[in-house]
Amino acid sequence: MAGLKLLLWSLIVGLSAYYFYSTDTITPEMVKGKRVIVTGSSTGIGEQIAYRFSEMGAHVMLTARRAKQLQEVAKKCLELGAGSARYVVADMENMTSAQNVAQEAIKQLGGLDYLVLNHLGGTGTFGSFKGDMEPVLSSNKINFLSYIQLTSTALKALLESQGSIIVMSSLSGRIGSPFSATYCAAKFALEGFFSSLRREFIMKKNNVSVTVAILGFIDTENAVKKIGDKVTMSASPKEECAIEIVNAAVLRQPEVFYPYWGIKPLWLLHNLAPNLIRNLLDKMYVQENIS
Ligand SMILES: NC(=O)c1ccc[n+]([C@@H]2O[C@H](COP(=O)([O-])OP(=O)(O)OC[C@H]3O[C@@H](n4cnc5c(N)ncnc54)[C@H](OP(=O)(O)O)[C@@H]3O)[C@@H](O)[C@H]2O)c1
Repeated sequence: MAGLKLLLWSLIVGLSAYYFYSTDTITPEMVKGKRVIVTGSSTGIGEQIAYRFSEMGAHVMLTARRAKQLQEVAKKCLELGAGSARYVVADMENMTSAQNVAQEAIKQLGGLDYLVLNHLGGTGTFGSFKGDMEPVLSSNKINFLSYIQLTSTALKALLESQGSIIVMSSLSGRIGSPFSATYCAAKFALEGFFSSLRREFIMKKNNVSVTVAILGFIDTENAVKKIGDKVTMSASPKEECAIEIVNAAVLRQPEVFYPYWGIKPLWLLHNLAPNLIRNLLDKMYVQENIS
C-alpha cells in the first residue's frame, strides 16, 4: 500500500512538472500563410480547428459532406483572419473522393503544410455490437482507410513543405472501451499506422511531423447527442480542445492529451495496472441507457 501511494505521488509530481514547465507557446507568425486541410470541418472539433488556424492567418481548405455548413464555416474563417478559406464537398466513405479532396486542395492551395485528419462518420460508432458487418466495413472506410488515402495522396506535398499530419484519436484508441468496438478498431488502427509512419519519417530525417491527439469526451453537438446520457463523464470544451491540438501541431509534438488531467494519468496508470483502470472506466457507462 505504501509502495502504491509513493508511486501515485511520484506520478502526480512528475506529470505536474512536465505540464507546467513544458508548455511552449506559439505565435501567429508561425502559422500565417500556411496551407491547411481540415477534414470533418463542417461542425465540432474540426470546425474549431479551422477557426484557430484562421485566426493566425492560415489558408484553410475545409471538407465534409454538407455544403451549406461548410459555406458558413468558410465565411467565419475569413472574418477571423484566414488568408483564404475554400471548401470541397466529399464523402470519405469513397476512396476516390478522398483522393480528389487531397488533389484538389493541393492544387488550389499551391501545396500543403498541415493535413488535419479529423472526420468521424458511419453508423454504429456507439452501442452494443450485434454482429452486423455493415457498420464495421463502413466505419473502417470512413474512419480509417480514408485517413490513409488522404495521407498517401498528400505525401509528396508534405515532404516538399516538411509539413505536418495531425490525427484525431481517443482514449478509446489506446484502451478498449465497451460499446465502441467499431470505433475502437478504427482508432487503434490509426494509432498503429501513424506511430509507425512517424518512426519512419524520423529515421529517414525527412522532417514531416505526425501529431496524434488523444481526446476524452468533448462537448461537440454530435458527441453529446450520441453519448451524453450514456456516460457519467463530463464533457470538455471543443474550443479549448482545438487550441491544444493546434498548439501541439505547430510545435510538432508527437502527441497531445486533452483534457490533460482527465486522460494522461489514466493512460499512464493503465500501463501499470490495466485491470484497475479498465474496471474504473467501465463504471462510467450507464448500461441501462445503451441499446
Ligand atoms: N467529441 C468527442 O467526445 C471525441 C472524443 C474523442 C475523439 N474524438 C475525435 O475527434 C474527431 C472529431 O469529433 P467531433 O465530435 O468533432 O465529430 P462531429 O462533431 O461528429 O463531426 C464529424 C465531422 O465529420 C464529418 N463527416 C461525417 N461523416 C462523414 C463522411 N462520410 N465523409 C466526410 N465527412 C464526414 C461531419 O460533417 P458532415 O456531416 O457534413 O459530413 C463533421 O464535420 C473525431 O475523429 C473523433 O473520433 C472526439
